[in-house]
Amino acid sequence: MSNDERLIIFDTTLRDGEQSPGASMTREEKVRIAKALERMRVDVIEAGFPIASQGDFEAVQAVSQTVTDSVVCALARARENDIDRAGEAVRDAKAARIHTFIATSPLHMREKLRLTPEQVLDEAVKAVKRARRYTDNVEFSPEDAGRSDPDFLCRVLEAVIKAGAGTVNIPDTVGYSMPQQFGALIKSLIERVPNSDQAVFSVHCHNDLGLAVANSLAAVTNGARQVECTINGLGERAGNAALEEIVMAVRTRPDVFTCRVDLDTTQIVPTSRLVAGITGFAVQPNKAIVGANAFAHESGIHQDGVLKRRETYEIMRAEDVGWSANRMVLGKHSGRNAFRSRLKELGVVFRSEEELNNAFARFKDLADKKHEIFDDDLQALVTDANLEHENEQLKLVAMRACSETGEKPAANITLWYNGDETQAAAEGAGPVDAVFRAIEEVVHSNAQLQLYSVNNITTGTDSQGEVTVRLEKNQRIVNGHGADTDIVMASAKAYLNALNKILVPDKKAHPQV
Ligand code: KIV
Ligand code: ZN
Repeated sequence: MSNDERLIIFDTTLRDGEQSPGASMTREEKVRIAKALERMRVDVIEAGFPIASQGDFEAVQAVSQTVTDSVVCALARARENDIDRAGEAVRDAKAARIHTFIATSPLHMREKLRLTPEQVLDEAVKAVKRARRYTDNVEFSPEDAGRSDPDFLCRVLEAVIKAGAGTVNIPDTVGYSMPQQFGALIKSLIERVPNSDQAVFSVHCHNDLGLAVANSLAAVTNGARQVECTINGLGERAGNAALEEIVMAVRTRPDVFTCRVDLDTTQIVPTSRLVAGITGFAVQPNKAIVGANAFAHESGIHQDGVLKRRETYEIMRAEDVGWSANRMVLGKHSGRNAFRSRLKELGVVFRSEEELNNAFARFKDLADKKHEIFDDDLQALVTDANLEHENEQLKLVAMRACSETGEKPAANITLWYNGDETQAAAEGAGPVDAVFRAIEEVVHSNAQLQLYSVNNITTGTDSQGEVTVRLEKNQRIVNGHGADTDIVMASAKAYLNALNKILVPDKKAHPQV
């Protein structure tokens, strides 16, 4: 069987992934992730939804100005303003795409859009034509296609292809479809739309029933040639199809799939870690491909089998997905140039000498505590340094946390808060609890702690702990991050970072997607 047809990998971590509650990313973070995706040779990077906010617009613009090897895509509703904003945001991209969408299911058209099907069809065509003013590379999505009438879908797809859409993407927006059914839908659309040969058929599946990857792969076996997916399956509600699972399924089973992916799969694990670190969405240990246990064998029978012949219990090689990529890269004696050039390779460029010097000083501090500095350490260090800009109102001046046999854990804290230094002390169930209580003595935020998680960035007890704290206040959710070889310190940093975000009014608009 020949596998010469390419499957286009369209990554939407920076757009749909960012729609996970609490997963919002700064412009610099988006650029770093985009560089990692480019290194992985992802075909298309959906960088954001420029009409959503000035911040989103600038992030898409920055990604467009940085990425050269992947197509950079911006999302737009089928509205003139959205499309113009998207067109402007990707203007500097070497290869730009506009992705425009409108809902086609009876429920969405009637209740959400309050438009008739004929009006929706008309808007879809107008949107594609407008997007073509900015780029030849236009994608159209009939939102909630999984619950749309297939006859109507055929009419819409034929019309948008005629209007100039080179990619038509079929979203299972609410993750309602079953694999067999979704595969059959894609097959019948390709067969029934008269001009289907003039467009690439794509799919975009959500994971509400845990079927996003299965549905996407069923679509691929039925003719889809683009899959929209995210790193670690991040995305709205239960997430999107996980890029790593789609790519490795197609790679591992050439007997099943008649197409191939051209990605550098060794970049999968480093990119997964980068996204988990930046968003604070930790990867579960038993997650396929990128989970810490994905290649670990506990049972003696399995270990014995793998030692005799790896293929007995392993269908992929850990090194092929980048598990060995985390080499020691720098150490105590590494100089400023080595530091700068390794970070440049990781997509981190300093805007000024001062920024570089600050980051280098942090690196030296870390190297004093920890002999071997890995790429993941460097990424965490930069994430931590970038957080400084967010921590304007509330800063940690000093902290002492005690935990002693037979004594109640206690913490003393000095904070800089709105121009004053304030001290507080508290006891708690453990040192982290005591520190959080002491901080609350000063801030009185009334925010609810929704999540507290600690992950070791590398192996060994000298590893940095990466802490995520999720707070909720008045229905607004924020994530705070902190990294340190001392996990109580990392926890304090993460809590203060989250509080700093809660203290700043929410500037992000939330248009309906
Ligand atoms: O899930 C969805 O329908 C989307 C569209 C914008 C493609 O994210
Ligand atoms: Zn989606």
